Amino acid sequence: MPPVEPARKTILSGVQPSGKLHLGNYFGAIKNHIALQDQGRCIYFIADYHALTTIADLQSDASKRGAALRENSVDVALSYLALGLDPAKTIFYRQSDVPEVTELAWILSTVTGMGLLERAHSFKDKAARGITPNVGLFVYPVLMAADILIYRSHFVPVGKDQVQHLEMTRDMAGYFNQTFGREVFPAPRELLSEAPLVPGTDGQKMSKSYGNTIDIFAEGKPLKQSVMGIKTDSSTVEDPKDPTKCNVFALYGLFATPAEREEMAAKYRAGGMGYGVAKTALLEKVTAYFAEARARRKELAAKSDYVEEVLLDGARRARAEAQATMELVRDVCGLAKRKG
Ligand code: ADP
Ligand code: TRP
Repeated sequence: MPPVEPARKTILSGVQPSGKLHLGNYFGAIKNHIALQDQGRCIYFIADYHALTTIADLQSDASKRGAALRENSVDVALSYLALGLDPAKTIFYRQSDVPEVTELAWILSTVTGMGLLERAHSFKDKAARGITPNVGLFVYPVLMAADILIYRSHFVPVGKDQVQHLEMTRDMAGYFNQTFGREVFPAPRELLSEAPLVPGTDGQKMSKSYGNTIDIFAEGKPLKQSVMGIKTDSSTVEDPKDPTKCNVFALYGLFATPAEREEMAAKYRAGGMGYGVAKTALLEKVTAYFAEARARRKELAAKSDYVEEVLLDGARRARAEAQATMELVRDVCGLAKRKG
């Protein structure tokens, strides 16, 4: 990841509370989020308004949906804190605690063509998988643009699947500036990690919605089951194997040093090593890599109000900035000045 430019820039990202965080989230985005904390002014949030667009698919029992979203939001926050998010350095909050963002989303929707949204991959993919799209899912990129633009962010660290959303955000910033003749919003840029597309246990993109994840905080039997369940080809133990075509190797490479990766690649090519051996090596890596974060997560989970306090303090700071931007936006587009 290239260092961001010298002047202190605003770096913003969000993650949906739609299930347990997995290795794709970690190597595609979270690892970068944590590392960037010393490189600019960081603002990270739990995108619970966004998660509402698919909550009905996530939880079939309607009476449990509210509780599920609430619990998932705390769960994701706890995971971030355990993985090294430092609330002294970073503004960390829950999206719905800064409701101004929905107002900006409305305003942006009035300068955005339908055609732009109709081209969104994430919407088309979800519709193609049989998810009945609601209007919220369709306008998801507008809310995401509002998340980014309301702090006039410069950089957005995300995985590759979000690049189109960033292009759309730049378009919306431009439409707003052009419509009202003022450079209110800068054009934000995505920051991709070194692993912008982590494969899942079946070789497709690792994703909560594909059921092919290895969860960051899994341990014991469930972790072993997901690692041992990674799909491999049907070659025999003796056969030489191509490491570049193997999901196990791709995941192992995320944890291994260059020398370890080379050594493993040589074993693949030489033949005589079954996939079980590579899977066991991967299992050991995952277990050791997250050991400290797992312990920290348990410690933090025992402090009952800690997460809530962090999120509320973050929201207070984020909200003050969001309100300042909205004052300017309302003024520029001729809406009433806020009283009180
Ligand atoms: P999911 O696809 O599991 O629902 P999210 O959409 O909540 O994950 O993604 C949260 C962050 O993690 C985003 O920045 C996204 O780009 C990144 N991310 C998700 N899956 C992957 C993956 N397989 N490889 C790389 N980055 C990913
Ligand atoms: N769409 C992102 C995802 O699914 C989550 C998100 C919402 C986001 N708002 C954002 C990411 C703003 C970066 C910036 O992963």
